Amino acid sequence: MAQRTVKVTVPATSANVGAGFDSLGLALSLYNEFTFAAADRVRITPLDGSRIPLGPNNLVYRSARAVYDQLGLPLKGLAITQTNAIPMTRGLGSSSACIVAGILGANALLGGKLTAQQMLTLATAIEGHPDNVAPALLGGFVTSVYDEGQVYTVKKDIDPDLAFAAFIPDFRLLTAKARAVLPQMISHKDAVYNLSRAALATAAFCEGSYSLLRVATKDALHQQYRLPLIEGGDEVFDLAQDLGAAGVYISGAGPTIMAVVHKDDADFFDRADAALRTGSDKLRHFTLRRLLADNVGAVVE
Ligand code: HSE
Repeated sequence: MAQRTVKVTVPATSANVGAGFDSLGLALSLYNEFTFAAADRVRITPLDGSRIPLGPNNLVYRSARAVYDQLGLPLKGLAITQTNAIPMTRGLGSSSACIVAGILGANALLGGKLTAQQMLTLATAIEGHPDNVAPALLGGFVTSVYDEGQVYTVKKDIDPDLAFAAFIPDFRLLTAKARAVLPQMISHKDAVYNLSRAALATAAFCEGSYSLLRVATKDALHQQYRLPLIEGGDEVFDLAQDLGAAGVYISGAGPTIMAVVHKDDADFFDRADAALRTGSDKLRHFTLRRLLADNVGAVVE
């Protein structure tokens, strides 16, 4: 009998959306592809030449193994291929894509024993927070809460008239480093600043009130501490705002800066692209990618 191969496609994601630290995230039209097949040892093959761990410490394999562990099943190995279009350690959810793929791939090979909710909970436990894994799994704009080991989510389709201008720098920023610079304690004033904006950003996406995003994506919990780690980040914020973006924020832990614009705003992309090419040295570290919303989430075939 021919061996079954499962194909999994997972979208990039952009977390926090400004004030929604560790809670809000949205899925984008950029995809990693994976295949999974039974094997008696670990065989990881990157099909795009990217440098990834090839042994049992590979994140996709570790996430797949977590499914077997949860079900109390033995696992000798898996044959996994990876094609990584999502840039790594750039704040676009590449790790979450690997985690979600590993869980979905293993679950499909095992006949779908885990529910979607169980897979989301497992993915969140591996990642530590749900704001990337939830939209990677579900697509759309997702609001999540991780409470006592359970994930609570609401997904809302993103308006297909929106585009997301990803200003991606040529340097990496590890999430651990970007989390290490955050203060352990914040003031009541800053808490109110963020919770009101996270609520407003969610309502703005639900209602299509995008003019609110300029104020709703402001943040007092993480962006001011992370921007010094992103050389040229301040200039990209100013550029995107000057060109009329509805909202601008650090995507996930950075270093990508994300601007929300209308998909037909060719002028924004032309002028931003020109500024990156002809602007200061700091701006030249960034490449602009025009992404659209993904409202489907991860697909298993
Ligand atoms: N919410 C996370 C953070 C996203 O900002 O650190 C990156 O994993």
